[in-house]
Amino acid sequence: MDEIVIRGGRTLRGEVAVSGAKNAALPMIAATILTGGEFVFHNVPDLKDIETICHLLADLGAKAEFSDNTAIIDTTGLGRHEASYDLVRKMRASVLVLGPLVARLKRARVSLPGGCAIGARPINMHLQGLEKLGATITLEHGYVEASADKLKGGEIFFDIPTVTGTENIMMAAVLAEGTTIIRNAAREPEIIALADMLNSMGADIHDAGTTVITIRGVNALRPVSARIIGDRIEAGTYMVAAALTGGRIRLTGADPSHLKPVIHKLREAGAAVDTGDGGITVEGGGGIKSVDVKTLPYPGFPTDMQAQFMVLMSVAGGLSVISESIFENRFIHVSELLRMGADITISGSHALVKGVSKLSGAPVMATDLRASASLVLAGLVAENTTRISRIYHLDRGYEAIEKKFASLGAAIERVPAE
Ligand code: EPZ
Repeated sequence: MDEIVIRGGRTLRGEVAVSGAKNAALPMIAATILTGGEFVFHNVPDLKDIETICHLLADLGAKAEFSDNTAIIDTTGLGRHEASYDLVRKMRASVLVLGPLVARLKRARVSLPGGCAIGARPINMHLQGLEKLGATITLEHGYVEASADKLKGGEIFFDIPTVTGTENIMMAAVLAEGTTIIRNAAREPEIIALADMLNSMGADIHDAGTTVITIRGVNALRPVSARIIGDRIEAGTYMVAAALTGGRIRLTGADPSHLKPVIHKLREAGAAVDTGDGGITVEGGGGIKSVDVKTLPYPGFPTDMQAQFMVLMSVAGGLSVISESIFENRFIHVSELLRMGADITISGSHALVKGVSKLSGAPVMATDLRASASLVLAGLVAENTTRISRIYHLDRGYEAIEKKFASLGAAIERVPAE
């Protein structure tokens, strides 16, 4: 297993191209299940999670090829309806095949994803939504079985605006009989991207990106080509790196309108952020102010940026309260940051972050995708050397992270584990 070694203290400067969004590509690739034919996706990030969902589609009988950030998916031969535990445990987003499988093959057998480091992450709202559309759901031996001769439109209210729950139901509803309304829907840009793709396939979806989405069922869909939107979380990670190291980074390939809460908070913390000329430029160096952050469903501050922003606050000039309202256990990175000299106290869903003058490098361990990114950021600004183990977590969601940071001037390399 590789490790990442960083010698901290460098000021990062330069330009970085943001990759395609993992959390847009995953549902869009799952949506290919809905009809037979060849789909071509451009700007697909080269990530472990993309490899996993391509394996999953191949398991179901599709053909999936990936090269040079292009994925070609041919679902003509798709005929199996089971997503095995082995694949689902690697990536809980595999649950996204549930809705499309029931819609196309009238049945699905998908392993329950189980919990993960950041929380229990149940899928009860996905299952209740499918039942509302007429699916019969049974749970046995750790699998969920869903079946329906023909899904029928219905009205679904989500207690919590679940991102993949909204995506699953939207995909199930596009071939249902009649109209489906999803209330308290998630509003993430990745939901809009999926709806745009489905509509280009011939679906009839309205108001994706708002809290009430209307889907009128259609009889047939056709394969399409699509380009994956830029990854707003990867972009946010590099934006924090600019503020953290007092440098200047220009990002291309990300849509600033997807990053409003992150831009707002970085400006509040003293960074200069410019979104003209088709890119996003972040400049630090003027001191870092402590600001409070509360994670919320989009368009609030993204939970996937909480760990990264905490690193910035750990070397800010005062006391910051960071509240995590989406997941019940998303402070795992705190213990590793404490080992690097941060001053953070957890109280329930709040982390009290008292800025310190410096972090010090240490051997640390990655535990989940975004926590790993926060350890890279901490290593970039810490004195001496930081060695991060279990970086397979990083490889799930950040394309060539060490190469991109090295191109910005970081002393960072990937080495075989000692
Ligand atoms: C998506 O996960 C993202 N993953 C996550 O990104 C992201 O952190 C999360 O949305 C929140 O923005 C993908 O898009 C592949 P939720 P998802 O359903 O859909 C509870 C990353 O780092 N809930 O919006 O699984 C749930 O436990 C990943 O890229 C239920 O209780 O998240 C959580 O507390 C991490 N029952 C809250 O809702 C359900 O049926 C929001 O979860 C579904 C969710």
